Amino acid sequence: MIDIKLKGMLNQHTLAKEDLHNISNSDNHNVYSQLILANANSEMLSYMLNLNHQKLNDFKSMLAYNQINEAGLINEAQYLNEVSDSSVIKLPAPKRQIGVSITKVLSKRHSCRKFSSIPISKRVLSTLLHYSWGTSPRKIYTDSLTINTRYYASGGGLYPIKVYIYCNNVEDMKSGFYLYQPLSNTLLPLSQDKAINIDNFYEGEGIEVSSSNLSVFYGFRVSSLYLKYGELSLLLAIAEVGEMSQNFDLVATSLGLSGCTIAGFKKRYIENILDFDHIDEHILLSSICGKE
Ligand SMILES: Cc1cc2nc3c(=O)[nH]c(=O)nc-3n(C[C@H](O)[C@H](O)[C@H](O)COP(=O)(O)O)c2cc1C
Repeated sequence: MIDIKLKGMLNQHTLAKEDLHNISNSDNHNVYSQLILANANSEMLSYMLNLNHQKLNDFKSMLAYNQINEAGLINEAQYLNEVSDSSVIKLPAPKRQIGVSITKVLSKRHSCRKFSSIPISKRVLSTLLHYSWGTSPRKIYTDSLTINTRYYASGGGLYPIKVYIYCNNVEDMKSGFYLYQPLSNTLLPLSQDKAINIDNFYEGEGIEVSSSNLSVFYGFRVSSLYLKYGELSLLLAIAEVGEMSQNFDLVATSLGLSGCTIAGFKKRYIENILDFDHIDEHILLSSICGKE
């Protein structure tokens, strides 16, 4: 049944959508009509129209990266990016295997936004993070380099996404932000001196951080892809974040947890906490997870 109070929002059939002069009541139906008539511009449409159009600079950069196997060189040196001082939290070894069938996990996965506030152990956290985004035992040997692979695919093998975790309810872990370091399966505490209001993480009221175990924010540094792929970088980064969040949902489900991918996160608020510069560094997506 349609709520009578919302009737005014639904009288869209009375609008002459294609009339350029109808600039009031501008909902997305109206904007879309004007876009299709080329009366309005859309950043999204412009991006899609040129999605994988390659220019000479792109060919030059991609060729150079491929010829010297820059991704392989970066990969082999990647352990140098991970902090290993006394502030770093070493997670317990993850479970050796997850003994639930993939069919069962796929059937059980569903989005959940409110949780039971039951804490999870550090071992469960470790297993969750490791199988979602950690390094897999599979290695690639090429050009006399040994390349670490992960449990998800990465455009060009550059692994440009960093995972920031807000631990809310994990045994023996201080609530706060951490950077996940996949090679060493460790957590680097971040912004621990900052006042954080967890009610500011997401838009609206529907997502309950207080009863969750953790929130995840996928951070993208433009320079980590742009130098090779130019304008194609955004497509690669967003697709990769999609793979990563799907891994997370499936691993969480297999461990008896529930999750939800969330596009409605407060980008500026999270980026400010993490001291992002908002130019090179961006949060692209978020996930939440907890016990139901
Ligand atoms: C890219 C993406 C963004 C999403 N963003 C939100 C969000 O901002 N808020 C929310 O409550 N759910 C969000 N969801 C969850 C969807 O609402 C949910 O997946 C959908 O309703 C299907 O339900 P299911 O996941 O239980 O199968 C998002 C899902 C995806 C894949």
